[in-house]
Amino acid sequence: IPVDTFDLVIFGATGDLARRKILPGLFRRYCSGQMPAEAQIIGAARSDMDDGAFRDLVRSAIEEFAGSAAGDADQVEAFLGQVHYEPVDAKGESGWEALKSHMRDHAVRAFYFSVGPSLFGDLAERLRTFGLATPDSRIVVEKPFGHDLESARALNRELAQYFDETQIYRIDHYLGKETVQNLMAVRFGNVLFEPLWNAQFVDHIQITVAETVGVGGRGGYYDSSGAMRDMVQNHLMQLLCLIAMEPPARFEPDSVRDEKLKVIRALDPVEPHHIVRGQYTADEKQPGYRAHVENERSRTESFVALKAHVSNWRWAGTPFYLRTGKMLRGRTSEIVVAFKDAPHSIFGAEAGRHRNELVIRLQPNEGMTLDVTIKEPGPGGMRLVDVPLDMTFADALGPDADMPDAYERLIMDVIRGNQTLFMRGDEVEAAWAWTDPMIDGWERRGDVPKPYDPGSSGPEDALMLMHRDGRRWRDIKA
Ligand code: BG6
Repeated sequence: IPVDTFDLVIFGATGDLARRKILPGLFRRYCSGQMPAEAQIIGAARSDMDDGAFRDLVRSAIEEFAGSAAGDADQVEAFLGQVHYEPVDAKGESGWEALKSHMRDHAVRAFYFSVGPSLFGDLAERLRTFGLATPDSRIVVEKPFGHDLESARALNRELAQYFDETQIYRIDHYLGKETVQNLMAVRFGNVLFEPLWNAQFVDHIQITVAETVGVGGRGGYYDSSGAMRDMVQNHLMQLLCLIAMEPPARFEPDSVRDEKLKVIRALDPVEPHHIVRGQYTADEKQPGYRAHVENERSRTESFVALKAHVSNWRWAGTPFYLRTGKMLRGRTSEIVVAFKDAPHSIFGAEAGRHRNELVIRLQPNEGMTLDVTIKEPGPGGMRLVDVPLDMTFADALGPDADMPDAYERLIMDVIRGNQTLFMRGDEVEAAWAWTDPMIDGWERRGDVPKPYDPGSSGPEDALMLMHRDGRRWRDIKA
């Protein structure tokens, strides 16, 4: 279904995110017929260039990142016809009047701040003073949304001077992933899971987001951030919320966000001995973390694992184990809901211990597996085995199922004016309020992260975090 016609201004249009995600994503939506023919995309950045030069840049971004859709040259050229460019000084006066001349009264106006948070305030202020923003305009802001609670509050206050909360779209791209939305569909679209989704039946939950890449060219940003700020405060937190929240009354922005906020506020402070930090070392093929960030004494973590508790009626006593890291054995994002053992085994102790596990694979190979215990075929008594009931979405829905990239989905939601999959200001602040004391604690103690080998599952201590509780992580597959 096409969205209303729009004028989308991308600040930071020559940057990496625009090139890799935003522009190719818009092109794919164009190909799928969702972008109206009168819609305009206006790149804005400091560089002085004309429409033609910017279109060349967009064309190459599409070729590199838009996948097979890029093969249709006519489509590419037609799309580029809707793309424009204006040089704009975010901190000065120049370019703003020219940018304003592109804006049309009847179109939805959206302004994407694909820039560092230090420019958010300047951009917001100029959109108002130069009269580009209307009461219905939307602004989209990228992470990192602050560095800690204090800076996030300051950003929220700054944006609130110029825009109403209903106009501010804070992106966490994990919420745009199809399988992440599927978490809600699975929980609240079926009658099967929800009755068991609580401390009475769930032994524990695991959330793993493992990456094989290192910090690459982002060393400067990453070293002042680390895995806790870069991944846990936002992406893993969102996954935890969707797993732990109460059923919202409706799939509507504040209904969903109110429930997520309650989860964050119910999180206990994490004990220091329930946190493991790691930093990858070098191997024969590549330099270690410290060489990547050019700080041979860096104490920033490229891996973190922790045990969290959601203190409410539903989850009291059920631990949530979270881990994420760079340079690990495989690229796997998955959630494991490990159910409790059957209360009594009628098959006797020799049948062994079996338990149901629901594994939700977010990427790659999106799908779900439910381990179910059955009888091993053959004579020889009641021997039990666990077999997976496997549902790989690509098999179930067909290879042609439209799986838009996270950014595509989210940008279209901005145009539609749907904030359900965007973070509210109080949610971001509550998340920082939970992570800040952990970070302050290790900074105060001068903690040094544990070294781990590239291609491993992280430091040994992370495995011990679960072993100590008589549990184990699901293996990270290569
Ligand atoms: C980003 C982080 O938000 O998410 C990166 O800043 C990380 O460090 C990325 O690599 C992971 O996203 P995805 O979609 O590849 O899982």
